[in-house]
Amino acid sequence: MRRSSDLQPEIADESAWWRDAVFYQVYVRSFADANGDGVGDLDGIRSRLGYLELLGVDALWLTPFFTSPMADHGYDVADPRDVDPLFGDLAAFDRLVTEARAHNLKVTIDLVPNHTSDRHAWFQAALRAGPGSVERDRFIFRDGGGFDGSVPPNNWSSQFGGPAWTRVPDGQWYLHLFAPEQPDLNWDNPEVAADLARTLRFWLDRGVDGFRIDVAHGMAKPYGLPNIDPRVELGAGVMHDNALDPRFDNDGVHEIHRMIRKVIDEYPGRMAVGEVWVADDERYARYLRPDELHLGFNFRLLEAPFDADAVRSAVEHGLGAVRSVGAPATWTLSNHDVPRHVTRYGGGDLGARRARAMALVELALPGVVYLYNGEELGLPDVELPEWALQDPIWLRSGRTLRGRDGCRVPLPWEGDTPPFGFSEAVTTWLPQPNEWAGLTAESQLEDPESMLSFYRHALELRKSQPAFEGDELEWYGAPPGCFAFRRKGGGLICALNTSGGPVPLPPGEILLASGPMDGNQLPPDTAVWLV
Ligand code: NOJ
Repeated sequence: MRRSSDLQPEIADESAWWRDAVFYQVYVRSFADANGDGVGDLDGIRSRLGYLELLGVDALWLTPFFTSPMADHGYDVADPRDVDPLFGDLAAFDRLVTEARAHNLKVTIDLVPNHTSDRHAWFQAALRAGPGSVERDRFIFRDGGGFDGSVPPNNWSSQFGGPAWTRVPDGQWYLHLFAPEQPDLNWDNPEVAADLARTLRFWLDRGVDGFRIDVAHGMAKPYGLPNIDPRVELGAGVMHDNALDPRFDNDGVHEIHRMIRKVIDEYPGRMAVGEVWVADDERYARYLRPDELHLGFNFRLLEAPFDADAVRSAVEHGLGAVRSVGAPATWTLSNHDVPRHVTRYGGGDLGARRARAMALVELALPGVVYLYNGEELGLPDVELPEWALQDPIWLRSGRTLRGRDGCRVPLPWEGDTPPFGFSEAVTTWLPQPNEWAGLTAESQLEDPESMLSFYRHALELRKSQPAFEGDELEWYGAPPGCFAFRRKGGGLICALNTSGGPVPLPPGEILLASGPMDGNQLPPDTAVWLV
C-alpha cells in the first residue's frame, strides 16, 4: 500500500495500514443474502469478496451482526460476543475473516458501547432485581419527579424522537438516548468497562483488524444528569455542542477511549474509528489524541451541500482539526444513517454527476476514506411506500419522519428484475425498485463509462500514483463557485466546479475527470484530477 512520504518514521510502517486506507462499509442486512431469507448475511459477504477486491478497497467495516432482537436493526445488542442467527454464526464469521485475508481485505466490525438491547441478560436481570440493586446500577435508572414519580427524571429527548426515559412497572425510569429497546449503560460502573474489554479481546482474538465505535461521543453522562436549558433550540441536526446539550461529548468519555485504546494496543496493527458527531474542532480533536481513537469520522463533508465554498470549508476544518493531534483526516459522503449523496445533490442525472465529482474530491484528499456500499453503483435513496418502512424513527416520530430506510435498500447485483441477485427469496427485507435494473454491478462492470468503472479507476490511481502523497494541501485562486487544491507532497491537483458555467482548467495533464471535458474548460458539476 502507498505510504505518505512525510509520515513520522514510527507510523510509516505496515502496522499503520489504516492511515490512508479506503474502507468499504457493508450494511450487512443489505449487501448479499446467501441463505435465501431476504436479509443479507455473513456468507453473502463472503460470496462477494472477489467483487470488493476488484473494486480496489483496502478494508471492510461490517455493521452489527451480533445477537439482537433488531429493534434498531442490530444496534440493539443482546449478546455482543455472538452472531445473530439471521446473519450466520461464529463459524461463518471465522470463514469470512479467513477468506477476506486471502483477498487482501482487512475486516473491521462495529462496537456498540453506549447501550445494549433491552433483551440483554443484564437488562433483564435489572428489571427483575428492582430499585437500588447492583443489577440496576449497570444502567441509568432513576426515580421520577412529581408527587407520584410520574414525571421523567429530566427533560432529555431521545435521538429517535420522544422522551429519553421509559418507566418500568415498579415506577423507576431508565435512560435511553435512542429507542426504549436500547437502554444506556452506566459507564461509572467498572463492570461495564470490564465487559467491553472482554468483547474487544473476544473479536481481536478472532482476527478482526479493528472497530468502528458507535456513538463514540456518548457513553459518559454528566454528574447529576442536568436538564437541557429549555431556551436552547436543539434543532434536527446530530452535530453536538456539549455547551448546549449535555447528553453527548462529556469529558468523562476520554477515559473510556483510553481504556479501549489500551486493549487494542495489545494487538499490533489493529485500529478503531469513532462515530464522533462533535461540532467544535478542538473538542473533536480530543478524541484523536495518541492514546485515544486512531480515527474519527469527519461528518462536515457529508453535511456540506454541493457548493465549492461549503466543501472547501469542510475540508479545511477536517484537516485543521486533526493537525494538532497527528491523526489522519477521515472522510465520508454517505452511510446508513443519512440520505445517499446522489439524492442529496439533486437526484437523477444531476445528482449522479455531482456524486462523481465529489467522489474525486474525497479521494484526492489526504487521509482515510469510508465508502458506503452501493455508492460505487451510484445508488440513490429509494422513496419507499409507508407499509415497507421499518426504521424505529418512523413509529417514534408518530409517522412524521420516514427515517433511514431509503438509504438501506438491498444492493442490485445482476439480472433485470428484483431481487437482482441479492437473494434467492422473492421478497427482500426492503423492496428494491424495478429501475435498478440499469444499476446492477453486473451491468456496470462491463461498461467503461459506468459509476462502478469510474470508482475502480479512481481507486486504482489513488493507490498507485505518487501524486497522492503528502498530508497537506495548498489552495489555488479559483473563479466563484469553484476551487482547486494541490497535494503538497505528490503534487496532485484537484479542481471542482459547482458554478453554473464552464471555467478554465488549472494547468496540468488530466489524470481523471468525473465527466466529459469541454476542451480546456471544466464544465459545471464536474471535478478533475491533474498532474
Ligand atoms: C449510530 C448508528 O450509526 C445508528 O444506525 C444507530 O441507530 C445509532 N448509532 C444507535 O446505536
